Amino acid sequence: MTVPVIEAQELSKIYDAGRMEVQALHDVNMTINKGEFTAIVGPSGSGKTTLLNLFGGLDTATSGSLSVVDRDIALLSKRQRADMRLHYLGFVFQAYNLVPVLTVRENVEFVLELQGVGNERSQRAREVLDELGLSEFADRRPNELSGGQQQRVAVARAIASRPQLVLADEPTANLDGENAEILLTMMRRLNTEHDITFVFSTHDPRVVAYAQRVITLVDGCVDKDETKSIDSC
Ligand SMILES: Nc1ncnc2c1ncn2[C@@H]1O[C@H](COP(=O)(O)OP(=O)(O)OP(=O)(O)O)[C@@H](O)[C@H]1O
Ligand SMILES: [Mg+2]
Repeated sequence: MTVPVIEAQELSKIYDAGRMEVQALHDVNMTINKGEFTAIVGPSGSGKTTLLNLFGGLDTATSGSLSVVDRDIALLSKRQRADMRLHYLGFVFQAYNLVPVLTVRENVEFVLELQGVGNERSQRAREVLDELGLSEFADRRPNELSGGQQQRVAVARAIASRPQLVLADEPTANLDGENAEILLTMMRRLNTEHDITFVFSTHDPRVVAYAQRVITLVDGCVDKDETKSIDSC
C-alpha cells in the first residue's frame, strides 16, 4: 500500500528580491510515498533547495498546497512547523551543521533532549552511533573528524529522533567520491531497514545512481520523474 508522506499540488514559490521577483517554483505537482529514496536533481538555480525548504516547513509557498506527514503546512503556525520538524523530520545539510563545542555523542543527545527524551537519551545516542559505525568518534568534537565522518554524524543526528522523513540538501557536496558512496550506502540502509523516507538533492551523478526515484527540476518545473526498477538500484 502506498502512503503519501509529501503531497504537493500546484506549488509555487516567488521570492521578492528587492525590485525583482524571482519565480523559483512553478506549479509543482509531486507525491512522495513512504519508504521512497528520491533524488531531486537539476541545474543550479532550478529550485531544489527551495523545494526542500518548503517540504521541511523552513519557508512557505506563495501558492498551491502542500501536505507533509499528514499536515497541511499552510495551516500550521511557525511554532507548529517547528514541532513538526522536531518530531517527524530529520535534516542533513551540505555543511554538516554540527554544534562545534559538543562532542559527537552530545550532538546526537542534544536533538533527543530537544524532543523531550529523558533517561533513554544516552542509550539511544549510543545505539544510533553503534549502528552507523561511529562509536569510536563519540567523544570527539566535530573539528577532530574528517568531512565524511562529520556528515555521517549529521545523518546519525538526523535519524536519532526516528523521523518519518529525512530531507538532505546536497549532503555529499563537500565529500569526495568514496565518502559520498559511504554516506549514500548508509542512507540507503536506513531507508530499507527502518523504512525512513529520504529526499535528497544532488549534482553528483554517482549519488544519483543510488536513488530509486529521480526527479529533475528545470527552471522551477518538474521536467522528468523516473522510478527505477528494484533490480537496478
Ligand atoms: N532568498 C532568496 N531570495 C531571492 N531569490 C532566491 C532566494 N533563494 C533562492 N532564490 C532564487 O530562486 C531560484 C532557485 O534557487 P534554489 O536555491 O532553490 O536553486 P537550487 O536548485 O538549489 O540551486 P543550487 O544547485 O545552486 O543549489 C534561483 O533563481 C535563486 O536565485
Ligand atoms: Mg541548492
